Amino acid sequence: MDGYHVALVIHLFTLVAAGSVSAIVHLAESRGSRAATIGEALPWHRISGSAARFFPIIIVLLFASGSYMVTAGGGWSWGTGWIDAGIVACVLLLGVGAFIGTRARRGAFAMKERASQPGGASAAPSHDPLISTLSWSNTGLAMSVVVVMTIKPELIDALGTLVAGMAIGIAYSVSRARGGAVSGEAAAG
Ligand code: HEM
Repeated sequence: MDGYHVALVIHLFTLVAAGSVSAIVHLAESRGSRAATIGEALPWHRISGSAARFFPIIIVLLFASGSYMVTAGGGWSWGTGWIDAGIVACVLLLGVGAFIGTRARRGAFAMKERASQPGGASAAPSHDPLISTLSWSNTGLAMSVVVVMTIKPELIDALGTLVAGMAIGIAYSVSRARGGAVSGEAAAG
């Protein structure tokens, strides 16, 4: 196995890790947003925050292994459309991920403060739907990069695929939130 294929295996293993971390984050976010009290919500916030710390490492690894393949003579160059779309996606994933992380940490901090007051742990937690929406948008974006890397289209089609991936992620998040609201209303009678 040559260096190119070692890098490709690292690239794909990193993608498997991304899927695993993403599953943990989405599960914890979902449970946290359905918690009835701050005391119930905080452990889920801790889990999603700890798992999400791996995302920057994952993106750096994808970028580094991808860059190695570009320079290792696989026939690709920095001007190749689908490679450029991959780079755009990595920058977006990092930027949006940092925004989500900052917002989630602020929310968790406010809940911890509230929980430290008498009776605070049994108060209703605050929910931030933007976090879930952006989180699913990032998942849709990452999945669309898999499509782009496999089909290897021209830049314009590659960018269109990324936009479609994000739109599908956002639509999925909105439909989940609506489904949750409807079942909540039904449970309340
Ligand atoms: C979210 C980010 C990324 C994801 C999800 C991703 C996913 C993938 C997947 C699934 C493949 C296998 C495709 C195939 O063999 O047909 C692949 C291959 C590849 N990726 Fe990425 N990638 C990402 C970022 C990048 C970046 C930033 C670069 C370049 C700087 C890059 C360069 C490459 C190259 C050169 C290949 C090898 C293509 C081949 O040999 O057929 N990737 N990527």
